[in-house]
Amino acid sequence: MTILKNYFFMSILLISFTAMGVSLAADVAKGKEKSMLCSGCHGADGISLMPDIPNLASQKEAYLIKSIKDFRNGNRKNPMMNSVAQGLSDEDIANLAAYFSNL
Ligand code: HEC
Repeated sequence: MTILKNYFFMSILLISFTAMGVSLAADVAKGKEKSMLCSGCHGADGISLMPDIPNLASQKEAYLIKSIKDFRNGNRKNPMMNSVAQGLSDEDIANLAAYFSNL
């Protein structure tokens, strides 16, 4: 009986973790949509055509998230990026980072 109860408990845990994973996963498609805001400067595929603007394609996901948040909270200063980042939610940033890091 206790074994059965344990199995039941374990499956509930497993199901809720799976559900959480799905809702927390960054959405690459939504990131691609948002990336329209970035392509003018960072290039259509995250490869910049301008000498003073960095590539974003294949950059590390965690680094992208950190950099964009640093621009948003002003820890990193660049007039263009500070104003772009102001308009992004945490979810937008996660989706954008997933999109660019996968290019
Ligand atoms: C108006 C031009 C412009 C737009 C639009 C723009 N960026 Fe930038 N971005 C820059 C410039 C310039 C830098 C370099 C800033 C610096 O020197 O610190 C930069 C830097 C970055 C960096 C840091 C890269 C690194 O290697 O450290 C990230 C990440 C980034 N941008 C993401 C984005 C995202 C995501 C968008 C769209 C939501 C976006 N940018 C839109 C101009 C732009």
